[in-house]
Amino acid sequence: EPPEVDIALDRLGGTTICATGGVGAISVIAVAEKGGFLHAPDTYMDKIACGPLAKGVIDISAPVEDNVKAVAKKLGKDISELTVVILSRPRHDSLIAKVRALGCRIQLIGDGDVSAAIATSWSSSGIDLLVGTGGAPEGVISAAALRCLGGDFQGRLIFRSDDEKRRADKMGIKDLNRAYQLEELARGNVMFCATGVTTGPLLKGVRMMPGHRALTHSVVMRSATGTVRTIEAEHCLNLKPLSM
Ligand code: FBP
Repeated sequence: EPPEVDIALDRLGGTTICATGGVGAISVIAVAEKGGFLHAPDTYMDKIACGPLAKGVIDISAPVEDNVKAVAKKLGKDISELTVVILSRPRHDSLIAKVRALGCRIQLIGDGDVSAAIATSWSSSGIDLLVGTGGAPEGVISAAALRCLGGDFQGRLIFRSDDEKRRADKMGIKDLNRAYQLEELARGNVMFCATGVTTGPLLKGVRMMPGHRALTHSVVMRSATGTVRTIEAEHCLNLKPLSM
């Protein structure tokens, strides 16, 4: 009797990044016990994410200024030393202005807020906080990763039309304004696996090698133990052809 599980999948997180040879496209799968993941509609989600050292002080319902100050205090950093990642989108103009006014370092990314959320909990990334609006399914995947890494993530669904609200209702979302805490997005035992597609701060991208071989770089982690395993694999493409 295999256990029933929830699966959250982003076969290519950062389609545009991959298409333009940019930084940090990843392929992701996360698994939880059945019912563990929020069944998120394909809408936007307001997100905030931080690493383990700042866990406990972020609040998606609070102004961004309060969150930045609270994270800086918890990390024992001056606000000017804090690096905040935000998706570079016109809808974030006012958010970016507020964060800039505080004197933080800002890293604007073109795409890929799953990688950015994970980066908050990846000590070598230099990223302290992610704020802004991105895809809701990506929010659930980010929460799965941060459950494993000990970070924190909160989200609130954003609806642009009545049709999106109706779709959410059909998927069982009754409170459309709910602020989801980490465990409400990814509950119980969670496993997360990502493979780099293009090189980024977390993972190296796929490298084609002579002799029809390819190198990949993956990370596998689970919430039960917090173990993070990295896997460098060399694939023989004669025996394991690329599926298109
Ligand atoms: P894809 O992986 O589907 O290409 O999404 C890329 C992405 O940047 C996500 O990381 C992010 O959550 C979302 O798009 C933001 O949506 P939009 O491009 O509409 O602002």
